Amino acid sequence: MSGIQETGLSPNKLFKVKSYVNGSWLEGAQKFPVHNPFDGSLIAEVSDLGRDETRSAIEAAQSAFALWRAYSANKRSKILKNWFRLQLENASELAQILTLEQGKPLAEAIGEIKYGASYVEWFAEEAKRVYGDVIPGQTSKHRITVIKQPIGVVGAITPWNFPSAMITRKVAPALAAGCTVVIKPSELTPLSALSLAQLAEEAGFPPGVFNVVTSNRPSEVGLELTTNSLVKKISFTGSTAVGKLLLKQSADQVKKVSLELGGNAPFIVFEDADVDDAVKGLMASKFRNTGQTCVCSNRIFVHESLEDEFKSKLGEAMQSLKLGNGLDEGVNIGPMIEEAAVHKVNELIDDAKNRGAEVLIGGKPSSQNDLIFEPTVLTKVNPKMRIFKEEIFGPVVPIYSFTSVDEVIEAANDTNYGLAAYFFGRDYSRIWKVAEELDFGMVGINTGIVSNVAAPFGGVKESGFGREGSKYGIEDYLNIKYMCWAGVE
Ligand code: SIN
Repeated sequence: MSGIQETGLSPNKLFKVKSYVNGSWLEGAQKFPVHNPFDGSLIAEVSDLGRDETRSAIEAAQSAFALWRAYSANKRSKILKNWFRLQLENASELAQILTLEQGKPLAEAIGEIKYGASYVEWFAEEAKRVYGDVIPGQTSKHRITVIKQPIGVVGAITPWNFPSAMITRKVAPALAAGCTVVIKPSELTPLSALSLAQLAEEAGFPPGVFNVVTSNRPSEVGLELTTNSLVKKISFTGSTAVGKLLLKQSADQVKKVSLELGGNAPFIVFEDADVDDAVKGLMASKFRNTGQTCVCSNRIFVHESLEDEFKSKLGEAMQSLKLGNGLDEGVNIGPMIEEAAVHKVNELIDDAKNRGAEVLIGGKPSSQNDLIFEPTVLTKVNPKMRIFKEEIFGPVVPIYSFTSVDEVIEAANDTNYGLAAYFFGRDYSRIWKVAEELDFGMVGINTGIVSNVAAPFGGVKESGFGREGSKYGIEDYLNIKYMCWAGVE
């Protein structure tokens, strides 16, 4: 591809532009462009598959299911471990492709590849631990046994903000359980998915077990995945609006669904918090991926007694942020994914300003690049503003002031979302109260990062349901079957 050559990176075997279906690389009749968000340059022209090809991929996954589920857990585990090893061996190339198409700083991209690979390693182990149960029968002549079986073909629809890790986090438990998969990556970032497919082929997954359908027609592919009766489970990460649509479409066939949707994370700093730690935690939580994660802090509540100190230390820390091309050394704020994302952030800031907010730092796209948004701090914000209710998905810190614990818990819970929440403080009994009363699936206590493979990632309320990672993650890809044994003498 000319695109990758223009970047100065050497083209490599992981740079694929065709879809991967039934063990073959499939060229679509049409193609769609993939651009580098930093400078808008064309990186690749990728196969644009439609509904018919999606159906073929599902049928291939269904045919492969009989073989894959019959493999011993050990055999599936070995192939997953090969895939894990290959991801680590190729981490640098995978990260370059990721940064090229998504824009995040290279160090974060390498972090994402390792983070994503950790799910593959984890579920390679969990494949061997799909335990059943033996339950005492209801009479002396009865016994009950429980086994867990793979659900079948899984449709995985994944987002642009973590183009690699959101695939492995869904696909590794599915494959470990004995399911087969059809993945539809975001049309903005299909290249990372295809590079994972290349490594899956090398790792030894049989044809049809792992399929990637690239497409610029997401609703067409989504409709086929949600309405084809061969697909038994849909796993989606993305916006709440699209999640609701996929859920409705899946309802007719009562498909099993997991949804990891939007967030509106509160970040609370109590009066006994270590302010330096809190600032460090906020920097990690807010500016990761340029503020484009669903667990980024969205509403920052600071106890009024600490407000001045917090703002001044945050301002100092933000001075170290370097804006630019994610491929350049030392950059930690890359471009946002597309113009529409910048527009949304601008709109939220304008709405806040019109209702009385003040811009303490930043507040606009940088003069060097329209897609790079200046890290921003807003003060004098309040719950009537859009920025309180909506996911920002950009590097903006709105600071709210509070005085009492009950008041801040009520404000933090005043949202339809329920993904991640964070708070800093040292009082032991308050920590328990606050952690228990926050209506969120994940709570970070004195830390700004909650994501790791050993933990169950997921939300409540309109942030979705289902859990990814941890010992719970594989359950979403298993059916429980119980056998009732009678006549035991
Ligand atoms: C997401 O933003 O969708 C996931 C972030 C994470 O895994 O930390």
